[in-house]
Amino acid sequence: MQYPWWYIPILTSPLVIAAVSVVHVLVSHYAVGGGLLLARENAYAVKTGDEEYRKYWKSHTKFFVLLTVVFGAITGVGIWWTIGLASPLATQALIQTFVFGWAIEWVFFVIELAAAFAFYYYWDKLAKRDHVLIGWAYALAAWISLVLITGITAYMINAKGLFGDYAQTGNFWHAFFNVEFLPQMIARTGAALLLGTLYIFVHASWTIKDNDALKTKVVRRMIAPSIVGALFLLGGMVASVALFPQNALMAIERAAALNIMLALTAGSLALLAVMIVFFVFPKPQTLTPQFSLCLLFIAFAAFACSEFIREAARKPYIVDGQILGNQIAVSQIADCQKDGFLSQGVWTSKYMQTKDANPGLALFMHHCNDCHASEMGLSALSLLTYGETKEQIAEKIKHLDKPNVSMPPWCGTDEEADQLADYLVSIQRKEGEK
Ligand code: HEC
Repeated sequence: MQYPWWYIPILTSPLVIAAVSVVHVLVSHYAVGGGLLLARENAYAVKTGDEEYRKYWKSHTKFFVLLTVVFGAITGVGIWWTIGLASPLATQALIQTFVFGWAIEWVFFVIELAAAFAFYYYWDKLAKRDHVLIGWAYALAAWISLVLITGITAYMINAKGLFGDYAQTGNFWHAFFNVEFLPQMIARTGAALLLGTLYIFVHASWTIKDNDALKTKVVRRMIAPSIVGALFLLGGMVASVALFPQNALMAIERAAALNIMLALTAGSLALLAVMIVFFVFPKPQTLTPQFSLCLLFIAFAAFACSEFIREAARKPYIVDGQILGNQIAVSQIADCQKDGFLSQGVWTSKYMQTKDANPGLALFMHHCNDCHASEMGLSALSLLTYGETKEQIAEKIKHLDKPNVSMPPWCGTDEEADQLADYLVSIQRKEGEK
C-alpha cells in the first residue's frame, strides 16, 4: 500500500529472496562454525606444538577468509536489496523494531572482520598466545552476530515474547527474546558446526596430497564437533517446530509440498550422518574431493528445504501477527475493507487517476502477486481458478482466508473483489489451452 509493487514473472518475488538467502546462509553459517573450529584447532596445534598441523590451518584460514568475508558480505547486502524490494513494509517494520539489534550486530561484524584479517595476516608475526586469543575473539564475535540475527529472524515466525509482548510494551528485548529464539539459536549453532566440518572436509581433501597422517588427523579432530553440531541441530529444530504458532503448524500439516520438504530435510540429514559415521570417520583416506563435495551438496539440500519450510509455514504473515505476506499491515485491514484498498494506497490512488488504469491488475499486483504468479509459474492464479466462473472467483476472494489458513483476509470492498475477479478471468487458463 505504502510502496509500489515488484513484479517478478514466473518465480514471484519471495522466491528471489529465498534464492539469495539460501546462498547467504550456506556461507554465513560456515563463517560462524568454521571460525569456532579454526580457533579450536589453532589453539590445539599451539598447545601440542604440532607445526605441520598448524600450517594446514593457516592455508585453511586463507580459503575461509576469502569465502566468508567476500562472498558472505556480498550476499548479505544482496539480502537487504531483495527484501527491500520484495517486502518493503516488512523490512520497515523490522528496522523499526530491531534497529538497536542491527546496530549491535554491525559492531560485532566489524570486530569479526578485523579479527579475521589479523588472524590470517599476523599468523607468524604475533606471539602464539596472542594469535590464539585473536582466533577466539573472531569465533566469539561471529557467534554473537549469529545470536543477534537469530533473535530477529525467529521473531518473524513467532512474535510471542518470553518476558512480555513487544506489541504491548514496545520494548526491544521483549521482541528479541521471543519463544522461537532459543531453539533456533541452538539449531543454527549446530548447523554452523556441522557445515563448518563439511567445508573443512572439502578443503582438506582438495589440498592435502600424499599425507594421509595429516588428513586423518584433520578428519578425526572433526568427529566431536560434527556430532555435537548434529545433535544441536536436531534438538533445536524439533523444539522450534513444536513452538511454531498455530497457523504455521496447520500449514505444515495440510500442505503436501511441506510434508515432502520436511521428509527431504530429515532424509538428507540422516543420509549425511550415515555417510560421515560409516565412511569418513573409519576411513579418512576415502575422503576424496568428489566425495566431500557430495556431502556438502547434501547438506545444502537439507538447508534449502528447511529454509523453504520456515518461509512457507509463516504465511499469511511475513512478520508474525503484524505484517501480511502481501505488504499490508494487520492494523490496515479494517480500513481497507471499509473504504477500499485502491483509494488508500499511496501508489494505487495515483495509478487509478491515470488514463488506462486497470483496477483488477493493480489489485492483483498488491494483493496476490507476492505469493502467486499470474498466467504462468509458481502457484499461478490462471490455473488455481481453472474452470471457475467470475461469480465463484469473486465469492472466493471475499473469503480468501476462510478455507485456506495461509492466505490473508480480503482487504478491500466487495466492488474491488469483483474488479479483481474480472482480471483473474481475463488471465484464466481455458479448457484445451496449454
Ligand atoms: C501470503 C501469501 C498469499 C497471498 C498474498 C495470496 N495467497 Fe492464495 N494461496 C496461498 C497459499 C499458500 C495457497 C495454497 C497453496 C496452493 O494451493 O498453491 C493459496 C491458494 C490459493 C487458491 C487455490 C485454493 C483455493 O482456495 O481455491 C486460490 C484461488 C488463491 N490462492 C487465490 C488468491 C488470490 C486471488 C489472492 C489475492 C487476492 C491470493 N490468493 C493471495 C498464499 C497466498
